[in-house]
Amino acid sequence: MRVISTIGLILVLLTAFNIFAQSKTRSLQEPLSPVASPSRTRDKTSPARDNYVGDAACGSCHREQFDTFHQTAHSVTSRLPDKNSILGKFSPDANALKTSNPELSFRMDQREDGFFQTAVQGTAPYITERTERFGLVIGSGGKGQTYLFWKGDLLFQLPVSYWTELGWVNSPGYRDGIADFDRPIVPRCLECHATYFESTPPPPNRYGKAGFVVGITCEKCHGPGREHMQRENSRVLGASGSAILNPAQFSRDRQMALCAWCHAGQGVSLARAFSYLPGEPLDKYLELPQPDPNAMVDVHGSQVELLERSRCFQSSAMTCLTCHDVHTAQHDLSLFSRRCLSCHKPETAMFPKLGHQVTSNCIDCHMPRQDTNLIVFDRNGKKARPQVRSHWIKSYTASTRSN
Ligand code: HEC
Ligand code: HEC
Ligand code: HEC
Ligand code: HEC
Ligand code: HEC
Ligand code: HEC
Ligand code: HEC
Repeated sequence: MRVISTIGLILVLLTAFNIFAQSKTRSLQEPLSPVASPSRTRDKTSPARDNYVGDAACGSCHREQFDTFHQTAHSVTSRLPDKNSILGKFSPDANALKTSNPELSFRMDQREDGFFQTAVQGTAPYITERTERFGLVIGSGGKGQTYLFWKGDLLFQLPVSYWTELGWVNSPGYRDGIADFDRPIVPRCLECHATYFESTPPPPNRYGKAGFVVGITCEKCHGPGREHMQRENSRVLGASGSAILNPAQFSRDRQMALCAWCHAGQGVSLARAFSYLPGEPLDKYLELPQPDPNAMVDVHGSQVELLERSRCFQSSAMTCLTCHDVHTAQHDLSLFSRRCLSCHKPETAMFPKLGHQVTSNCIDCHMPRQDTNLIVFDRNGKKARPQVRSHWIKSYTASTRSN
């Protein structure tokens, strides 16, 4: 019976969505096929994985969200390695990273059987090499990417990353001149950057090599969609309700919790990775630092803490959704400024000086881009730090700007 209903479902899906949808999601869906490979372990804390249907299924009815969502950073924040997903160059003039250690360099190769990183150590003729294959790509590449490799069913970080402004660089936090292939990838990293991995510790970096789902998908925020889909497909059942989570209907706290799951820093995990379901309280799942007005908060990954420090947030019902629609890429600062003007009058401090021009960009003055200290690339002894938009909305005068 089960098999038959699954086949029926697949048939409905195949006829429902057009070729465009299929080709667009193939790279995301094909190796993963959440319908075909149900999770082996099921327990009360993680919703059974065979109730997840994958983005293509949602796209057959929600075309608008589907098309624009797949252009966002969320959707490509982890991918399988291929020519398009790896942004670093493999051409012979650009595939090497020299280090400050004359006896160590790295080489990146594209071969028929995959993409590889090699550490080349020593001086001729006494050269030793270590080669590992790119297994996963982490990061949309808006700023940069880090790569992971499999050793059996263990996941590790590769020593060379890609920084969009510089090309190949030492991975963040790695010392220049040393080849380190021993950094394990803990579940929390994948929880923020992917939809699902089956974590099977010990050791903590052991994962199921099949059935994982890369990218942040619809169901990461909306919960498992099988029942919703079945109800919408066969309305005869007379079931009431849509059987899918809509964060618009969450309380303010739970809306913030959804984003805080990944945008409030690392925290301390209190429950099994990947077992949190949007709409539930986050504090049983993740221990985040108590708000401390004197603590330094880094701009990277801490949008929630910073926003919560803002008078705007404290004196209104603002949430992340006041400004962000996560189904579409948003980078137009004048459109963001309109959100400010839904609460503020344009006649603020700078209006006398700038006139109506002030309304085109409130952002760069009140939410400036700042260096992060959490992601630091060491490249030939030079430190590079990416900039991230600060979510502490306030007036940044010369004296307060450093914070
Ligand atoms: C067969 C068509 C169909 C499929 C497939 C489908 N939906 Fe829907 N969905 C609908 C319709 C129709 C509505 C509006 C009616 C309703 O609210 O029940 C809806 C409503 C929603 C809502 C708003 C619900 C609410 O209570 O406000 C969300 C969120 C949603 N869908 C997400 C998804 C996601 C995520 C997927 C993929 C897992 C998906 N849908 C798959 C047809 C579909
Ligand atoms: C990062 C979290 C996140 C992801 C990923 C996500 N959504 Fe949503 N979705 C939300 C939030 C938050 C809302 C409620 C506020 C809003 O409408 O923007 C929402 C609302 C919706 C609604 C209801 C819209 C309405 O007008 O009531 C639909 C339908 C929907 N999402 C479909 C999708 C589909 C389809 C995908 C995948 C292609 C997707 N979502 C991916 C967070 C997400
Ligand atoms: C499962 C983890 C996760 C959740 C939940 C999540 N995000 Fe994200 N978000 C990320 C990651 C990871 C990135 C970085 C993507 C990249 O560039 O690789 C990101 C990036 C973004 C960006 C930048 C997009 C761009 O194009 O540069 C925005 C805006 C954003 N998130 C808003 C939100 C909001 C609002 C919510 C809550 C509705 C939310 N996110 C929920 C993990 C998450
Ligand atoms: C608590 C959630 C969280 C964890 C854990 C986390 N990240 Fe991120 N990461 C983010 C968010 C959010 C962003 C983007 C927004 C920002 O910089 O604040 C991001 C950005 C990135 C980027 C830059 C993407 C781009 O192009 O803009 C890379 C690369 C990255 N993370 C790699 C990793 C790796 C590798 C790990 C684990 C070893 C990791 N992250 C752990 C949430 C997380
Ligand atoms: C949901 C409504 C809302 C939105 C949207 C909003 N604000 Fe505010 N903002 C407020 C409120 C309320 C205050 C507090 C006013 C008071 O206490 O007198 C405030 C205060 C401020 C302050 C003074 C901060 C301080 O520390 O004294 C600045 C600057 C500011 N907002 C700028 C902005 C900018 C720029 C944007 C858009 C990026 C924005 N606001 C979006 C509601 C909002
Ligand atoms: C008052 C409006 C506003 C609110 C509220 C807001 N953001 Fe943003 N956010 C912005 C603007 C403006 C940008 C800059 C977009 C750009 O430069 O492309 C941004 C950018 C981001 C980025 C990308 C940062 C980077 O530099 O890579 C992330 C991630 C993000 N927001 C997450 C969140 C989260 C999570 C929340 C809730 C805690 C939130 N935002 C609330 C206005 C807002
Ligand atoms: C050129 C930089 C700049 C731009 C653009 C700008 N501001 Fe400001 N804003 C400031 C500075 C500086 C102050 C603090 C002035 C002071 O303390 O005397 C300030 C103060 C404020 C305040 C608090 C005091 C007040 O006068 O109400 C709010 C609210 C505010 N700005 C909102 C906005 C909004 C909304 C926009 C976009 C329409 C905007 N600002 C555009 C620099 C700017």
